[in-house]
Parts: sequence; C-alpha cells; structure tokens
Amino acid sequence: MPKSLPGRPVSLWLDTTPETGFPPLPEGLEVDVVVVGGGLAGLTAATLLKEAGRTVAVLEAGRIVHGVTGHTTAKITALHTLIYDHLIRHAGEAKARAYGEAQQAAIEQVAARVRDKAIDCDFVRSDAYTYTESPEEKGRIEAEVEAAQRLGLPATYLEDTPLPFPVEAAVRFDGQARFHPRKYLLALARDLPGEGSHIFEATRVLDVTPGEPCQVTTDRGRVAARDVIVASHFPFADKALFASRLQPHRSYVLALRLDGPPPDGLFIDTGENFSLRPQPLPDGDTLLLVGGEGHRAGEGGDTVARYQRLEVWARGRLPVRAVEYRWSTQDNFTVDRIPYIGPTTQHSRHLYVATGFNGWGMTNGTVAGMLLRDLILEGDNPWAAVFDPSRMNLNDVPELVRQNARIAAHLVADRVHRTDPDTVGPGEGKVVHTLHGNVALYRDEAGLIHRLSPVCTHMGCILHWNPAERSWDCPCHGSRFGVGGEVLHGPALRPLEKK
Ligand code: FES
Repeated sequence: MPKSLPGRPVSLWLDTTPETGFPPLPEGLEVDVVVVGGGLAGLTAATLLKEAGRTVAVLEAGRIVHGVTGHTTAKITALHTLIYDHLIRHAGEAKARAYGEAQQAAIEQVAARVRDKAIDCDFVRSDAYTYTESPEEKGRIEAEVEAAQRLGLPATYLEDTPLPFPVEAAVRFDGQARFHPRKYLLALARDLPGEGSHIFEATRVLDVTPGEPCQVTTDRGRVAARDVIVASHFPFADKALFASRLQPHRSYVLALRLDGPPPDGLFIDTGENFSLRPQPLPDGDTLLLVGGEGHRAGEGGDTVARYQRLEVWARGRLPVRAVEYRWSTQDNFTVDRIPYIGPTTQHSRHLYVATGFNGWGMTNGTVAGMLLRDLILEGDNPWAAVFDPSRMNLNDVPELVRQNARIAAHLVADRVHRTDPDTVGPGEGKVVHTLHGNVALYRDEAGLIHRLSPVCTHMGCILHWNPAERSWDCPCHGSRFGVGGEVLHGPALRPLEKK
C-alpha cells in the first residue's frame, strides 16, 4: 500500500482557476501560423503574431496551460541559478550578454502586457536570490556577481537574505517578478480567438510536413499553414534529433502554509536542490512554494519519499503549519544550458521549435514568443544565434555522448524480472514478467488489475512505475503514461497497448 502524503495532489495554479473549453479542430482550416502547444511559449508566440496581423491556430493535445506551465513555480527572472560566469566561459561574452538581455526583455514584456491589458494575475516585482550555505560555494557566487555586473545585469553580492536561516553568500537580481501563470495565460487565451485566429483543444498533432504551405496532421484532421511553431515541450516531429539532445528532469513542489509571513523574494540554492517563492491566496493568506528533489525523468525511484524529504527539509527551516498542495513537474535540459529556439534545422524555412528551457520557462518561454515572432515576420532577431537549435559547440560533445550512452543502456540493458503479480499491492504498479510476456501491472484501490505493455511507444524503452504520481514513466526521453495507458507527457504520441 503506498504511503499517504499531506496536501492536495493538484497544482495551486490549476486549483484556483477555471477549466477551459475550447473546441477541437474542424476539418479544412488554413491559417498563417499553427502553434503546437498551449503553454506559455505557444500562447505568447500566438498572441504576438496575432497582434502583428497574422492568423494563428493554437493546437493543444489536452487543455491549454495544463502541462509544464500549469505546474511551474512561475518565477520570472533572469537569475538562472548561476549561469552568467558559465556562459561567458563556454559561449563567450557576446552570447552571454545577449542571453541576459533576452531574459530581462522577457520580464519587461510580461510586465508591460500585465499593465497595458490590466491583467489580474498577482504580478508583483520581486528580487531574486541564488544562495549557498556552503563556504566552498562562496567563490562561485562571487564569480557570478562579477560576470553578471560585467554584462550589465542588476546583480549584488550579499551575505544576508530575507530567508529565515543563515546563508554563506548570495547573489541578488533586483526588479525581477512573479505571477499566477494560469491567470496571466488565460487572459491571453481569451483575446486570441477571432479575426481568423483560434485555439483548439483535445487536438493531438501527429505530424508536420514542411512545405508551402506546411501540412499539420492531427487526430482530428489536417490544417495548412505557412509557418509552424512546435512548442509542445518535447518536440515530437523529431527530424533534428532533439531526443538525443534534451535531458528531461522531474521535480516536486509543496505549497506550505506557515505561521507568519513567508520570506519575500524568489530563492534557489546553488545546487538547485531547493527553490522557494511566496504566492498569495484568495483567502488573504500567502503560501510558500518549496520546490526540489529533482531527478532524471523515469529514474525517480521512490517518488513518494521525495515529497517526504522535501517536507522534512522545509519543516527543519521554516515554521510550517500545513501542506496545502503538492505537485510535480518536468523540465527539459540542454547540454549548454541554453534553450533551442528557432528553425528546427539549418534548412527549415517554415518550421520552428521552442524547447529546452532548463527549468526557467517563464522568461525563456517569453523569449521564445518574441524571437519566433521576429523570425516569422522579419527573418531575424538579435538573439537568434544564441538560441539557434542548430548550434554545435565541441565542448558539449562529451556530455552528449554520456547522455546518449545512458539512453542506449536503458534501451538495451533494462531487464524485466520474473515477479509474482500477487506481490503488487493496492495502489501499486510493477513491470512483471508473466506467461503472457512482460506486463506493466497496476492494481487499483479496489483490487482490480490493469495490464498494459511496459514498452514506451516513443522508441521502445521499458517504463518505470512512478508511485507518487501513479504513472508509467520512461527513463529515455521522459514520456509518461496514465494507468489506463493514455499519454500524459510526450514525446510519445500513442497510448500503451492493453495486455
Ligand atoms: Fe523515448 Fe520512451 S520517451 S523511448
């Protein structure tokens, strides 16, 4: 029997906003731009393109702002843990400067829209901090402050923060921000349909054929468009081999009610183990979101214990009264820590991608919208070379080789052990070897057994059971499936076979 966890298993963002109900795609539509994926990157790009006079159709497999954007901690900041010293050394000062400028411009883009459209989304300016409790990490903080100041970013070195526990050192970026991501994006979505533009939900894109126009094939029919943006988190039409260049990670969030006000600011430690930010509730109280316990997707082991360790950490440092919510999320990481935003390949003329936001999707997703708008309208943008998906840096090759060796090991060496299905308790799942072959077996609380193929429909890796989320997760590229076999998270497009 799985251990029970405190808090409601839903994201605060989803629990405090209404559900959307956009229609599915009708047959025979033609627009200027199709945007695949209704998260922050997709809706921002669609909004900016519609404002520039283009007709746009956003296609979402489920409901918009439900995926990664519905499960983020929603920090809008250019302070991406420690990145600027790294970027100067690995990509050069010009690219590091452009990366920082793009992030700061994204913050101002969101701020201006909230102000101009009077969007009620709990947007507030807030300082962001990366801190360390270890004397050995102090030098990294100092180097980051020096690098960020050199690039013209609003960085300050500190040895004291608003956190209620001592730190060794911290870097602070002034004038960053936080908001309620669903309130913000549902406001954008309200203004999108009309004048030839649309949002379609429950419409899974299966393939994109480049051309003039491009043909987008969905499970509801086809749509033609001059340009297509794939902003579906993990790209599915993967001719550019993103599967070999992205590393999906999962992490966990607790929304805590404290005795007293939470610390004011956006916080993360240098090891990216813990992230904190406050969020007001409609009842006037303010919760503290604590995130962490990250791991490679499909390799989380006892994911219930991850929530428990996060709670133990929080209770050891903060006056926690109650856990109100808990949820988990998935982010794609790139080897050089810069997202892939731009033409899918060097030869793509009308097919664009936005992925690999490295856990910083609020600014990088907004950068994606701005950059792709410019590429589609003008054919260029000053940040294009930095985010170019076709870039290649020889320094990244060893890590890419390691990453792909790990995936190959899962493909080739993951074995299913003979297990007695009776050892699977209520609420538990296991991949077992039976007389009928390998089976992903889940026993529900009523004792009913659900049998699925344990083979991921993306590229054939063996799935792992995720006890906290009750899902089947793939260790290769992060696809996830529900206990009924339905796709929860791509790149897989097809559900698991029933056994
Ligand atoms: Fe690629 Fe499962 S996600 S094999």
